[in-house]
Amino acid sequence: MVSNLKGKHFLTCDDWDKQELDTVFETAFDLKKKFALEEPTRYLRDKTLFMIFFEQSTRTRNSMEAGMTQLGGHAHDLTADKMQLSHGEAPKDTAIILSRMGHGIASRNCFYGIGNEYLNEMAAYSGKPIMSLQDDIYHPFQGLADQMTIFEHFGRNTKGLKVTVSWAYADTHSKPLSVPQTQLLLFPRYGIDLTIAHPKEFPLSQNIIDQAEKNAQASGGSIRFTNDMDEGFEGAHIVIPKNWGGFGHYGVQEYLDNEEACKKEMAENLAKYKSWICDEKRIKLADKNVKLMHALPADRGNEVTDEILDNPDISIVFDEAENRLHTAKAIMALTM
Ligand code: CP
Repeated sequence: MVSNLKGKHFLTCDDWDKQELDTVFETAFDLKKKFALEEPTRYLRDKTLFMIFFEQSTRTRNSMEAGMTQLGGHAHDLTADKMQLSHGEAPKDTAIILSRMGHGIASRNCFYGIGNEYLNEMAAYSGKPIMSLQDDIYHPFQGLADQMTIFEHFGRNTKGLKVTVSWAYADTHSKPLSVPQTQLLLFPRYGIDLTIAHPKEFPLSQNIIDQAEKNAQASGGSIRFTNDMDEGFEGAHIVIPKNWGGFGHYGVQEYLDNEEACKKEMAENLAKYKSWICDEKRIKLADKNVKLMHALPADRGNEVTDEILDNPDISIVFDEAENRLHTAKAIMALTM
């Protein structure tokens, strides 16, 4: 347990060492127990968090806002259109000003090639912790909730656990790479044997894969890749079928310079893989006690069938969603 996390930014789990992350999980489990017992946890009395959302959110927004209330503080729910950001005010100036008025700043900015840079610029100038609520590369709060849920269902020793993160078809929107990339970086640090399954046109970013391989080597986990969803599911203890856009197919500058053409090509590639769904047939390929996880929102009938998502013997997606609250509170209580 470490006790010196006040002021630490939370932009990616990779910036936090194992001891620090274990402190977060201990705190989250304690907060979850106290929430169940209705014990007060006003560790952030009279403190203010500013949340700036450039995109929609259900779980992230409400876990942070409810979390701040339960910790005795208050969260401002801001969107770009309510702020001078919409007239081009620099992230640097926004960060300096808000950090003088409150105790933490959290933001979601998933624009490809922009979001992570935006958050890092705020972190360079803020006098208070900056928290990523998801960007184009990472979704660290989701990663924490995922790992906490795995601990709850499989115990704290996850060495040798077989987890498969599989690309799946969706037609709602082109989802960021941030969730699978965060899982790729984090799970092997806990000894997990991770399989990433995806069509060849939907790779993750190579620099993240390189870093994840280093994490796995250092921690005893492993990573393998396949372009076959069935093969990915074979023997898995946990399956995570989730769509992501084809951004990893392009360099950032290549994408930004040819955005319309890349989007058109991504849509054409997407249409080829409607059969990439988590259904009864594929679940049967996995371990007999397999669990389904998903960051949500799920594209029902495309990423995963209702039959699997609503099966209480298989699906732990709502535990995973609830754990967004407890892990969010842990990070805020420790850093703000
Ligand atoms: N999983 C997740 O981040 O959900 P929201 O987009 O609803 O916040």
